[in-house]
Amino acid sequence: MDSDGPPAAAEARDGTPPAGHNAALSIDTSVAHVARVYDYWLGGKDNFAADRRAGEQAIQAYPDIVYSVRANRAFLARTVRYLAKEAGIRQFLDIGTGIPTANNTHEVAQSAVPGCRVVYVDNDPVVLTHARALLVSGDQGLTNYIDADLRDTERILDQAALTLDFSQPIAIMLMAILQHIDDAEDPLAIVGKLIGAVPPGSYLAISHPAADIEREAMALMAERLNRLMAEKVTFRTRDQVARFFGGLELVEPGVVQLSKWRPRSGAESAAAAALWGGVARKPA
Ligand SMILES: C[S@@+](CC[C@H](N)C(=O)[O-])C[C@H]1O[C@@H](n2cnc3c(N)ncnc32)[C@H](O)[C@@H]1O
Repeated sequence: MDSDGPPAAAEARDGTPPAGHNAALSIDTSVAHVARVYDYWLGGKDNFAADRRAGEQAIQAYPDIVYSVRANRAFLARTVRYLAKEAGIRQFLDIGTGIPTANNTHEVAQSAVPGCRVVYVDNDPVVLTHARALLVSGDQGLTNYIDADLRDTERILDQAALTLDFSQPIAIMLMAILQHIDDAEDPLAIVGKLIGAVPPGSYLAISHPAADIEREAMALMAERLNRLMAEKVTFRTRDQVARFFGGLELVEPGVVQLSKWRPRSGAESAAAAALWGGVARKPA
C-alpha cells in the first residue's frame, strides 16, 4: 500500500464468511490464520474473530506492526517496479500471495510494463477464493494462481511452467512468507531449489520479519502469534536473512530495513518497519 495515512483497524464481520466464500473449501474460522491476521493489520475485512484476537494481541506487543505491514506492501511495490522497469524482468513467481489488497504484484508489474506474466502461489483457502476472482489475466498480461505449499517446490515449479517460460529470467518473490518455515524445515534448501530452477539473470526478492529490530517487542509478538495462529513464525536476524541470498548478486543497497530499500519519499524511508528486505540477481 502506498498511502502514508494512518492505519485503520479493520471493522469486519463476526464469523461471517468473507465474500466469495466457497463452502466446498475447508475454512477453519476458529483458529487465526496468517493471511487473515495480515488482512486485519492492513485494515481489510476478510478476517474472523480469532484472527482479530491474534492481530490485537500482536498489536499490543508491537504497536508498529500496523505500520510495518504497510511498509512491507510499499517495499513489494518498489521491488516489482524496479524489477520490471530497471531490471527488465517480465515474469514473476510470487509465493505467499496474501489476500488481494492494494498494489498486487500483477497490477504493479503490468502497469509498469504491459505484458508481464505473474504466477501467484499460496496455501490458504481464503486467499484461493479471492485470487480466483481478482488475480485474473487481462489485456495487460497473463496471471495465474497455484494452490500449493512453499515446501512443495516441485509442484510449484511444475505448475508455474504452464504460465512462465523457464528459459527466460523470472523474479521469485518471497515476501513475508519465509518466517513460516522453521529452521528444521531447511528454508535455505527450499530457496535454493527455486533459484536453481530459474536461469541466470533471474532475481530473488525477500522481505522477512526481523528478530534484531525492536528485539523485545518482536519476541513478544512472535510468542503470542505462535500461541494463537495456525502458522508458526520464526523471526530472523539480518545475517540470517542475508544467507538466503547466498551465491547471488545483491542489488544496492543490499539487505536493509525494508523502508530503507530505495524509498521514493521521506515518509517511505521513515516508516517504522521491523522487517529486512533485499533483492538479488542470479549471476551467469
Ligand atoms: C504475511 S502474508 C504476506 C502476503 C504478501 N506476500 C505480502 O508480503 O504482502 C503471508 C502469506 O503467505 C502464505 N503462506 C504462509 N505459509 C505458506 C506456505 N507454507 N506455503 C504457501 N503459502 C504460505 C499465507 O497464507 C499468507 O497469504
